[in-house]
Amino acid sequence: MSAVPSERGEVAIRHLSKSYHLNGKPFQVLKDLNLTIRSGESLAIVGTSGSGKTTLLRVLAGLEEADRGDVLIDGNAVRGVGRDRAVIFQEPRLLPWLTVLDNVAFGLETQGLSRDEARNRARRYINLVGLQQFENAYPRQLSGGMAQRVGIARALAVQPEILLLDEPLGALDAMTKIAMQQELARIWREEDVTTVLVTHDLEEAIFLADRILILPREKGAVPRLIDVDLPRPRDRSSAAFVRQREELLNLFGLH
Ligand SMILES: Nc1ncnc2c1ncn2[C@@H]1O[C@H](COP(=O)(O)OP(=O)(O)OP(=O)(O)O)[C@@H](O)[C@H]1O
Ligand SMILES: [Mg+2]
Repeated sequence: MSAVPSERGEVAIRHLSKSYHLNGKPFQVLKDLNLTIRSGESLAIVGTSGSGKTTLLRVLAGLEEADRGDVLIDGNAVRGVGRDRAVIFQEPRLLPWLTVLDNVAFGLETQGLSRDEARNRARRYINLVGLQQFENAYPRQLSGGMAQRVGIARALAVQPEILLLDEPLGALDAMTKIAMQQELARIWREEDVTTVLVTHDLEEAIFLADRILILPREKGAVPRLIDVDLPRPRDRSSAAFVRQREELLNLFGLH
């Protein structure tokens, strides 16, 4: 086994700017963003639609290039996608012709694990997301929440330093969503992985994150960073939680 440095998964964002072209003119989405995401930290990114949440996540994933600035992971500049990062999208994008077990094991063999090693590792993560009874099921036999759990198991199984999630629970019904939030909170306690979670859901951000980055709607404005100083496991009905939620709603002018 290779030695793993104890502090891995630190993400330093330095003077990051990104614009797209709209009607032939540059349209600035991210402007001189600076932020260090600590090793093992859970950061939520919130902001109105079009504020650049997905863009930022895609730059961190290496799927999109910044115009200016750098993303450093453990001090090394990100150049394209890498095995140190795994991305979870809104839909799990499972391979329909493979079982749950094979979907999760799929990427592992290409990483050099033997078939047995890959399957053992996959089983561990399938257990972690509570789907041990479904390892031989096909994606069409799963509910939306179960399929999303398979996607999470698949991303964790490659043991990334950084997990990037773009509204992973956005398509789920309210009950399943709350159950999944609890599950994610538990998984993140067990797996020491730096996580960046894009979400529309302010309550979800408070429930899961150590800090919340709020991307402003106006491009000139400076993003805000909020500490979520609540004990874990978090209790949505506690006075401190409700207060935090009110504060966040106020920042969005929704109160
Ligand atoms: N590939 C692209 N080409 C041109 N413009 C783009 C591209 N991707 C995103 N944009 C623009 O960048 C801005 C930010 O988009 P982004 O998808 O990052 O927003 P978002 O915060 O994730 O929004 P939502 O909450 O709706 O998912 C939008 O104005 C969008 O039109
Ligand atoms: Mg988005």
